[in-house]
Amino acid sequence: MFIVIDGIDGCGKSTVASLLSKEIAKFRPVFHTFEPGHVRDGLYRKLIMENVANPYVVAALFTVDRAEHVAKMIRPALDEGQWVICERYADSTLAYQGYGMGLDKDLINRMNDEAVKGLWPDKIFYLDIQPRLALARLSSKDKDALEQQGIEFLTRVREGYEEIAKEKNYIRIDATKSPNHIVKQILEEVHIS
Ligand code: TMP
Repeated sequence: MFIVIDGIDGCGKSTVASLLSKEIAKFRPVFHTFEPGHVRDGLYRKLIMENVANPYVVAALFTVDRAEHVAKMIRPALDEGQWVICERYADSTLAYQGYGMGLDKDLINRMNDEAVKGLWPDKIFYLDIQPRLALARLSSKDKDALEQQGIEFLTRVREGYEEIAKEKNYIRIDATKSPNHIVKQILEEVHIS
């Protein structure tokens, strides 16, 4: 089972993904991973943060990070029979670089197709939260170059997720609920509890 946890910055996906992985590990082997930056010790992530002014460069680096992540980590883990819990995936690029930065969405879809090579998640949990609340959760010292783009940017990204959710089978989660509540909800959806 390949599970993706997605949403705007400050939605709490890392906390939820960690708790969820611990719970699932009680029942079966699980691999908790994330994008960007799990491959190559964050090399692409570093390059991304140095190039945030150029949406094409950023999207290319995110999708290269994804291509290696899929080939070297996600697919091998699934092949070994592990469940994979991944923070962010292809739709993050569509929402952030497409809707947030205005890069051509067809181009992003093509880049994502090349990166994932047919490996699409079984379930996508979308942690929905208002940008104002999400930003309040992030202290300014922890914000990276993309997170510093502010409320208008994050509002466009959230509208992007809303659009994508209409087309794809997202499972929408109210991200203002407690992490334990959210994890319980997800465990019920994946039929483990
Ligand atoms: P993170 O906070 O989840 O580690 O992600 C780092 C930043 O990168 C965050 O602001 C979301 C952004 N991002 C994109 O803009 N496009 C992408 O494809 C991904 C995976 C993340």
